[in-house]
Amino acid sequence: MTDRIVSPKPREEERKNEASLRPLTLSEYIGQERVKENLCILIEASKARGEAADHVLLYGPPGLGKTTLANVIANEMGVGIRVTSGPAIERAGDLAAILTNLRRGDILFIDEVHRLSHIVEEVLYPAMEDFALDIIIGKGPAARSIRLKLPRFTIIGATTRIALMTSPLRDRFGVVYRLDFYAQDAMEAIVRRSAGILEVVLDDGGCREIACRARGTPRVANRLLRRVRDYAQVRAQGTINTEVARAALQLLEVDDLGLDSADRRVLRVIIDKFDGGPVGVDTIAAALSEESDTIMDVYEPYLLQLGFLGRTPRGRVATKRAYEHLGIPYDQKASQPELL
Ligand code: ADE
Repeated sequence: MTDRIVSPKPREEERKNEASLRPLTLSEYIGQERVKENLCILIEASKARGEAADHVLLYGPPGLGKTTLANVIANEMGVGIRVTSGPAIERAGDLAAILTNLRRGDILFIDEVHRLSHIVEEVLYPAMEDFALDIIIGKGPAARSIRLKLPRFTIIGATTRIALMTSPLRDRFGVVYRLDFYAQDAMEAIVRRSAGILEVVLDDGGCREIACRARGTPRVANRLLRRVRDYAQVRAQGTINTEVARAALQLLEVDDLGLDSADRRVLRVIIDKFDGGPVGVDTIAAALSEESDTIMDVYEPYLLQLGFLGRTPRGRVATKRAYEHLGIPYDQKASQPELL
């Protein structure tokens, strides 16, 4: 059997369903209190001045609400939002077309902003800084540049990998916030709110059980809630209590810390095939027939947060905690690799 990971990303259909659960205002948005408070001030101040808000960069692991927050900001500002992503803007002309179609105050949301090409970034710099588009007309010695004024707008960039952004691009965002994994009480509030919208009957125990296995990630919580709802409908009387949630999550192979079979496979590969590490991400990815980016963006952040993975100069290591969680005896190595 190969150690292939089944797609960890929610399917398009689930993404759309998820949209109905997304909060539209800051007051509906649960968690990320500091980010929310700062955004509240930014929005109120910009609105009072009648200006577009400064450019905002949101970063952090997937599923924590970067897209949701961008929509909330647009809604609270009362402006339009155009959504695109780094890889979707292939040529400078694509960006020019988008920018010239924005109205004053509009938001341009660029997901995976670290994946913009250098050529596109060069066009973006004067657009962000001076609200101007430099267009070259003609070729050779006759070529000349004209500067097109753009209406003032706000770029909201989102990335799971801020370290991959060039510093000139990063520096052009006046507001930079990191989204963190949500605390248990915020997760419970999100599950309760989503259950209300989906009209699912859920008691406190059921809510707690789903929340604590959702890896501090609202997208995961909403996905688990839907699956547990299906289970409750078919195998129970439609009500989600502790027992029903536990049985459903066990069937989904989601353990009590929220790790699923794919996460456990990442740990097992490091432990079984590479003696616990250190092993490079590319090697882990190859052993799992997976992309290195997926390992780094999707699996690693939560495993690092749990203290199950460590980063060393020579690669990743599975920690003692990871062994204990998987029930594998941990042989203390003669020399422990130094964690970064
Ligand atoms: N649904 C997804 N993320 C949410 C959040 N942060 N607050 C409320 N509902 C959500």
